[in-house]
Amino acid sequence: MTWSHADKAWPTRGLSYGADYNPEQWDKDVWREDVRLMSQAGVNLVSLGIFSWGLVEVADGEFHWDWLDEIVDLLGEAGIAIDLATPTAAPPGWLLAAHPGIRPLDHDMQPHWPGARLGWCPSSPVFRTYALRIVRALADRYGHRDHVVMWHVSNELGGGNGRCHCDTSAAAFRDWLRRKYGTLDALNKAWGTAFWGHTYRDFAHIIPPRGNDMKNPSLVLDFDRFSSDELLAHYLAERDVLKSVTPELPVTTNFMVGAEPDVVDYPRWAPHMDIVANDHYTRSSDPVPEQDVAFSGDRMRAMTTQRRPWLLMEHSTSAVSWQPRNRAKTPGELIRNSLSHVGHGADGVLFFQWRASRAGAEQFHSAMVPHAGEDSELYRDVCTLGRYLRRLAPVMGSRAPRARIGIVFDDEAGWAMSKGVKPNNHLAYGRIVRDWHHAFWRLNQSIEVLPPWSDYTGYEVLVVPALFLTDDDTAARVSAFAEAGGTVAVGFLSGVVDEHDQVRLGGYPGAFRELLGASCEEFRPLQEGETFTLDNGWSGTEWTELVRVHDAEVIARYAGGHLGGRPAITSRSLGAGGRAVYVSAGLDSDALLALARSLVDPAGVADVPRGVEVLVRRNEEETFTFFINHADDTAVVAALGREMLTDEAVGGELRVPAGEVRVVRSGTAG
Ligand code: GAL
Repeated sequence: MTWSHADKAWPTRGLSYGADYNPEQWDKDVWREDVRLMSQAGVNLVSLGIFSWGLVEVADGEFHWDWLDEIVDLLGEAGIAIDLATPTAAPPGWLLAAHPGIRPLDHDMQPHWPGARLGWCPSSPVFRTYALRIVRALADRYGHRDHVVMWHVSNELGGGNGRCHCDTSAAAFRDWLRRKYGTLDALNKAWGTAFWGHTYRDFAHIIPPRGNDMKNPSLVLDFDRFSSDELLAHYLAERDVLKSVTPELPVTTNFMVGAEPDVVDYPRWAPHMDIVANDHYTRSSDPVPEQDVAFSGDRMRAMTTQRRPWLLMEHSTSAVSWQPRNRAKTPGELIRNSLSHVGHGADGVLFFQWRASRAGAEQFHSAMVPHAGEDSELYRDVCTLGRYLRRLAPVMGSRAPRARIGIVFDDEAGWAMSKGVKPNNHLAYGRIVRDWHHAFWRLNQSIEVLPPWSDYTGYEVLVVPALFLTDDDTAARVSAFAEAGGTVAVGFLSGVVDEHDQVRLGGYPGAFRELLGASCEEFRPLQEGETFTLDNGWSGTEWTELVRVHDAEVIARYAGGHLGGRPAITSRSLGAGGRAVYVSAGLDSDALLALARSLVDPAGVADVPRGVEVLVRRNEEETFTFFINHADDTAVVAALGREMLTDEAVGGELRVPAGEVRVVRSGTAG
């Protein structure tokens, strides 16, 4: 096998296919079997060494490379490329014993005990020194091996050490605040510290949000921002060491992008990645897990420059092992999920993990090779997927066209909304955004879930759901989008506070009041089980407001109750055909669907059978249309070109069997 450095912008020549590979859990005879099965399944990339620090550096400065040398060679001989991980997610026992001060402390100052992973404080200089030493040693030893094609920094940074409250972190937080605010006066003003007489007279008096009592939300928000920056600084420190040895190799780390506010601010991290990579796991309790797959893909695409391909670093072949009841995937779901990620812009599909563990905390997690072994439906599906990905190789590098719908999603807004006391403490930011996404997804609209600072030009509809924290720049650009002819839908609890988490006065949603021509005098959150009905028949739960209209048309009013006759949904027309719709109530999913339908141009609503998801990627010559049939019946869709998985000509109509995927390749017009 010859390896070409010229190909290293993307780690593999075809679409990447593989998994986290943890050979250290197995005897060497299993390694040979692994490599045989990997070749049979079409695996071309594995993430190696993720948790191997304690097995390589067995004592302070004492390195044992033999086993890793051997497996690196074995993979190379089999033509399997390596995404080599720095092992810093798993600090060894000797390091934690010698330096217990590196452990992160939670808000009650309880340490993260050894036995799990990511048990280190991101601000600890001691940890950083040891971490960079092993990173350097690894890079020197393997960085110039031809089949080491990418670096995988640590693992899910922040998952375990996302917020550390120790004294080292406190000191780093104060430095961060000094850099941000310059003076205590500026900080006191931004945080509104006169409340409860908390005015700071010395930076040394500022401590992270320890304990459980009610904190100043502005302090909590800045601590969240600081914590994200500290972990990014760690990533950058590792990356710089790797780049100093192998400037040509891509460096990444695996994000955990889904529908919840992230533990760190991934959209702000993404520009520092050579390849943006994600781990995505569906929830057993989720009634529509395929929409969660779509949501994460729609976020990932918006995080890469101009919708460049991204890498699915981890997902599961079947059940995970960390939920209360771990649902096994249904027939075809493994392939549907994987190809949905590809349809959403991934140029590679990797799993956690290659072979299901016998021992350890994740012994009942699914893998590409299950406990049952090679003779299993699951492994046969894994081989089928490998074949499919080889047939889909021409898709590589193609991109989704600009989506029609932009939905604004912001970690800072999510953090601000979900921490501290709020009018309804049961509202979840991610759930609200996902409900909006669900409505447009059911209409088969192309969607990007984007950070607020994105360029909004080109979308047909811009949705701003629960953007609780909105800065002036975002507010101005949302207004400009509507003034230029776009349709904006602002959801309740948007634009309530500014970037310091201080309420915008004069009526909610302060940042969008003028644009909407309507405002809210008082929030009227509902109690559990309470519902409302509007005069157009729509209904909902959880949230209502006392809304006053200044310069807008009322689309729907409350049909009864103490808000009877009052506006719930308003619309203001702007020049150039733009409009700004305010949705001040918590609509249920049917109402949101009806509303979404009223916002999009009917000509752009594809006529496909219910349950079929349509995704498009294209390059200059060709268009690739993915049809994913989530339904129980065969669907017939209109298509023209060549089907890539079955290699059949498609002359106008294509049958997509229940639960299966078809991908049609055709010329890109114009
Ligand atoms: C991921 C993690 C993997 C594995 C997996 C199980 O979050 O990166 O190492 O634990 O979850 O689903």
